[in-house]
Amino acid sequence: EFCKGVNGLDKVILRESRGSSAEVYLYGAHVTSWKNDHGEELLFLSSKAVFKPPKAIRGGIPICFPQICLLLAIWEEKLIIIRHLNNITTLLFACEFGGLGTLDQHGFARNRLWSIDDDPPPFPTNTLSKAFVDLILKTSEEDSKNWPHSFEYRLRIALGPGGDLMLTSRIRNTNSEGKPFSFTFAYHTYFSVSDISEVRVEGLETLDYLDNLQNKERFTEQGDALTFESEVDKIYLSTPTKIAIIDHEKKRTFVVRKDGLPDAVVWNPWDKKAKAMADFGDDEYKHMLCVEAAAIEKPITLKPGEEWKGRLELSAVPSSYCSGQ
Ligand code: BG6
Repeated sequence: EFCKGVNGLDKVILRESRGSSAEVYLYGAHVTSWKNDHGEELLFLSSKAVFKPPKAIRGGIPICFPQICLLLAIWEEKLIIIRHLNNITTLLFACEFGGLGTLDQHGFARNRLWSIDDDPPPFPTNTLSKAFVDLILKTSEEDSKNWPHSFEYRLRIALGPGGDLMLTSRIRNTNSEGKPFSFTFAYHTYFSVSDISEVRVEGLETLDYLDNLQNKERFTEQGDALTFESEVDKIYLSTPTKIAIIDHEKKRTFVVRKDGLPDAVVWNPWDKKAKAMADFGDDEYKHMLCVEAAAIEKPITLKPGEEWKGRLELSAVPSSYCSGQ
């Protein structure tokens, strides 16, 4: 179902027969809503989100491509100091400094108008569903100034029969002159939670991570499941393919399953950074958590004609169902 969303932007609504639904804006190929069959919203979308290009929509599932948090080591000190003051300005400055042009810290895919892909190549059977949309983004003249590569990015967004939300990305190097390219990637998913201090994340304990708040230094997570009592911005490396986000108050568990995406970013801005973001409510940090299926530590390299696939599957189940699994 096609319709107009906020500010007249085109969106697609997917509905599954048992009542679950999802909304996808063509701007950014951005999933802004995912509801279960009781009509409950499962993704966080800021009440201050700006639906106006070129700003990325705050919440839902931004697509980060061709880079996510790509910060070269020599920039680190400068970046961290200024990032606390102003995220975006700093990163643009840093990127210019490094000769990458003005590539946003999270790439350009989330700020581009995607098209409906009328003729997608066949998808594997496990991505088949009746409620889906295929979108496509290709190299534009504007983007090739900052990222001089030729690509085709196909994204299928589908709702499974049980209301699971599935995103399958296929990125192909379409360069005819034999030039490979590398990229990093993330599904920057904002989960809606009732109270961040009651949330636990399982699946990342004992793993190594890079701490974005400490010069991207490498640490090892100790002990039990993660809980939250202050700002967190970490890149967990080589994680299992399944991560669980347990919301005690809601008695709900989100299960993240990922394929082709070894890393996972965990982010909550907490109070100070929340206040510094114009498109984020001061107290909204209490009701969201980003757990982002990503490929960051080892960038993906594609030779001409090669294709990469990265898949995310999200389910929301009653907590009792998950215990002991
Ligand atoms: C996270 C990063 O992925 O995204 C954070 O780890 C960043 O450092 C956050 O602040 C939000 O980024 P943006 O560009 O959407 O404001």
